[in-house]
Amino acid sequence: MKFPQMTTNMKRKIATTIALSVIWMVAAVPAASQASAKTAPQTAGQRSPVAPTKEQVQAAVTEAYEKFKSNTEGKNADYIPELAKVDPKFYGIAIVTADGQTVTVGDVNQPFSIQSISKVFSLALAMEELGPDKVFEKIGSEPTGRPFNSVEAVVDMPSHTGNPLVNAGAIATVSLISAPTADAKYNKILDFYSKAAGEKLTLINEVYKSEAATNTGNKALAALLLKYERIYADPLESVDVYTKQCSIGVTAKQLAMMGATLANFGANPITGQQVIKREDVPEILSAMTMAGLYDGSGGWAWHVGLPAKSGVGGGIVAVVPGKGAIAVFAPPLDKAGNSVKAQLAITYVAEKLGINLYSPRSVGVK
Ligand code: DON
Repeated sequence: MKFPQMTTNMKRKIATTIALSVIWMVAAVPAASQASAKTAPQTAGQRSPVAPTKEQVQAAVTEAYEKFKSNTEGKNADYIPELAKVDPKFYGIAIVTADGQTVTVGDVNQPFSIQSISKVFSLALAMEELGPDKVFEKIGSEPTGRPFNSVEAVVDMPSHTGNPLVNAGAIATVSLISAPTADAKYNKILDFYSKAAGEKLTLINEVYKSEAATNTGNKALAALLLKYERIYADPLESVDVYTKQCSIGVTAKQLAMMGATLANFGANPITGQQVIKREDVPEILSAMTMAGLYDGSGGWAWHVGLPAKSGVGGGIVAVVPGKGAIAVFAPPLDKAGNSVKAQLAITYVAEKLGINLYSPRSVGVK
């Protein structure tokens, strides 16, 4: 045997893991059998060999909560006036696994506006309607290296739209979704997000009104896209539907469930419904890796190694493919528009549980 030490360690690890009640799951079962198994979508024998116990996950989450609770760095977004009014002390962490187990701490039932995290799910909807190749052609998937609302990126980038997770690309993505009216499009989007969350979501109307009254920048982006012929429906109507989708309320728990739907390759872990096309999930996660935290995405990939998406409402969701998702809500943001405490908490939990996708620990070797 070439590596006797490693082999022994791995054997011991696997034996220990089997003896414990594990939490992460490997979502390798076909979509059809998941859909039919509502309460226990996955079966024994498909468990990850590197799964921590539920107690270990709870401990990591509680430690992350305590460790960063009194951190006061960052500032609520205030370019949308309503967001400046949100209590900056809100702080909640939720994990939902691909088999529907939940671990939480803090303010996980407090609704907040989903903001840019919505872009991930509208991308999924556009992909379902047009297929990944068409969406890639019409929007692209290159990181901009610029702030999320950059005009310069629209001018400079060959695609102009950049990617589906910056404002310009996201508004263009909304313009791709088919519907007879703006209201019908918004309702279709709301319904799609609700299926991912496994429960009915609702608009936070004050946030919508507040952003609709102040979103001149996004209207300018849409007008520029029109100049480059990179928006595919009425620009102002597209901005309005986009603004509304950003104002949908979620809790950290609901957001973790939406993330877990992605982790479970598009099937909601509790309802069993195949919400997002299974074959579209890799491209969606790649877009999140590339641009989920905007000009902070490279540093995030370097340090954390998980596809994630942030929103200026203070939420971040990170996805561990096949295993689960972690969502954190904490309103104060850094300069790139990413929640400070959410980044700290996810980084801590990812390190503790060894779930960086690029790390040997994630596949059970040291
Ligand atoms: O369009 C905007 O500016 C907001 N509705 C969303 C921006 C956002 O969440 C960026 N995320 N970090």
